[in-house]
Amino acid sequence: MYKKLFIPGPTHVREEILQAQTAPMIGHRAKEYSDLQEVVTGKLQKLLYTSQRVYLFASSATGVMEGSIRQASKKRILNTVCGSFSKRWWEITVANGTPCDKLQVASGQAVTVDLVDEALSKGDYDAITLTMNETATGIMNPVKEIAEMIHQKYPDVLILVDAVSCMAGVKIEFDAWGLDVCFAGVQKCFALPPGLTVCAVSDRARQRALEIPNHGYYFAWDAMDSKYDKFQTPATPAISLIYALDKQLDCMFEEGLENRFARHLEMAEYIRDWAHKYFAVYGDQRYLSQTVTNVENTRTINIGDLNKELGKRGAQISNGYGDLKDKCFRIGHMGDLTMADMKWLTEQLNDILGLGN
Ligand SMILES: Cc1ncc(COP(=O)(O)O)c(C=O)c1O
Repeated sequence: MYKKLFIPGPTHVREEILQAQTAPMIGHRAKEYSDLQEVVTGKLQKLLYTSQRVYLFASSATGVMEGSIRQASKKRILNTVCGSFSKRWWEITVANGTPCDKLQVASGQAVTVDLVDEALSKGDYDAITLTMNETATGIMNPVKEIAEMIHQKYPDVLILVDAVSCMAGVKIEFDAWGLDVCFAGVQKCFALPPGLTVCAVSDRARQRALEIPNHGYYFAWDAMDSKYDKFQTPATPAISLIYALDKQLDCMFEEGLENRFARHLEMAEYIRDWAHKYFAVYGDQRYLSQTVTNVENTRTINIGDLNKELGKRGAQISNGYGDLKDKCFRIGHMGDLTMADMKWLTEQLNDILGLGN
């Protein structure tokens, strides 16, 4: 039986989107392909409120993280860490031999403007990594406010933002916020199958990359630029996924972006209310994620058993991530899930756990 995915990615993919992938194949140097990439790029610029470049990489997001690290810094990077996925930025920076420091906050806490300001004031940094939505802890960092402070006080610091688990579920104004790199794999709030990463890059970041020798090839923005004006990519693109993305972007605009973001918030508030009633919500309550809720397992229920029972009813949630395994469980409320899905899920949870009677 199909289990509807209430996990924080990959998320449930609607039939219409799955079908869009089955369009007949075209050559990636053909005009049909360029036409497709041109319209998709324009739609992504609209989604991200940007007039700068948006690239499509046939890769999961981690590849784009690595590529960004290799192109963004000539000096030193500040890696902000608030959980396992933000830690990945730091791991990649270290693995590439790029000088860096880690600004780490305790699990469940957010990376705040003041903490970033203090850390940046102590070193000669030219780039910072941020994770907008830490999928492991369910915390959303105040990226807009952090970026505002950086522009005022550290204008040479490029702002690299992992928005993997929130792009297309919350508003990100790439140009107005002054971000330099912002990307997401499409298997989360875009609600597509995995394998494609969307990445906006500022003009100044592209300029910086040109000054850095040996910055790689596959994820290099200058390599992408060599074909950008033709609306092609140097390597073979994930054409079927791009067909699905094109369809999904149309659906997003039909729903209305503001409505889409409001739906994500409404689902988040509903799941948080449920969690507060029967369990607790993990972490700093001022910075809760709008796309995934990390529920503290205050009743010490067996999460594996719960998921087995949910599976029989056609749904799946996630255990806690890393150290939080069995101490928390996560409910994803992103992509194309609706309030009706949320209500159905909490009814099942209440029934299985004997709650709310
Ligand atoms: C915030 C965040 N960053 C990065 C990643 C890694 O993405 P991928 O598995 O697409 O490489 C994930 C995956 O869940 C994530 O949630």
